[in-house]
Amino acid sequence: MKSTSLILTLALSLTLAACGHAPKETLSNPSDIPMNKDFLQLAADRYSVRHFTSTPIEQEKIDLILQAAKLAPTAINSQPQKIYVLRSADAVSKANALSPCMYGAPHAFLVCCDEERACKRGADGSYGDIDCSIVLTHMLLEAANLSVGTCPVGYFDPTQVKEALSLPERMRPVLLIPFGYAADDAAPSDRHAASRPDDELVEYL
Ligand SMILES: Cc1cc2nc3c(=O)[nH]c(=O)nc-3n(C[C@H](O)[C@H](O)[C@H](O)COP(=O)(O)O)c2cc1C
Repeated sequence: MKSTSLILTLALSLTLAACGHAPKETLSNPSDIPMNKDFLQLAADRYSVRHFTSTPIEQEKIDLILQAAKLAPTAINSQPQKIYVLRSADAVSKANALSPCMYGAPHAFLVCCDEERACKRGADGSYGDIDCSIVLTHMLLEAANLSVGTCPVGYFDPTQVKEALSLPERMRPVLLIPFGYAADDAAPSDRHAASRPDDELVEYL
């Protein structure tokens, strides 16, 4: 009898592990809801870095950030994003001239929306901005996961950016993401931890 229940317990553990639901010994929330605390910690730890070192980021890390971008959901999987990696001295110097918010970063991603690929929404709207926002959120979080600092930057003129980088007509720059290693004195701004009251942010209906 004892050995039967041992076998059953073992079989159950193996099944749970195979489903990715293996009980984690480190979990200890009151209701025992399985949750990945590491993810919330990562989300809380990410902040907009505004002072970078000039140390280049390893290609493997850039590849992983781009991989995270690729895994993002988009409307009907249209994947309208086009990510330019501004890495050459020329491209980075152009980025510095186009935005005051490069903060000394050695590189930047420019996330653009290819309007011809974006899923249409209503008569003249599109899901492009929403898709690109999700893509870049994946990038910010994977970068943080790799200890690569980022800052999402909207402070640039999209028309000037298009012109300076000779982007195709259908490409619309959405956000610039300077990235690199945070300088020793880089720190989250006061805004990082500021939060509106929960009842302004969430309402159960
Ligand atoms: C759409 C968007 C545009 C932003 N544009 C800029 C910008 O132009 N310059 C800048 O320094 N930070 C910019 N930020 C960063 C925000 O100021 C920052 O995310 C916010 O204050 C919260 O701080 P945290 O990122 O450190 O948590 C932008 C963020 C978003 C989401």
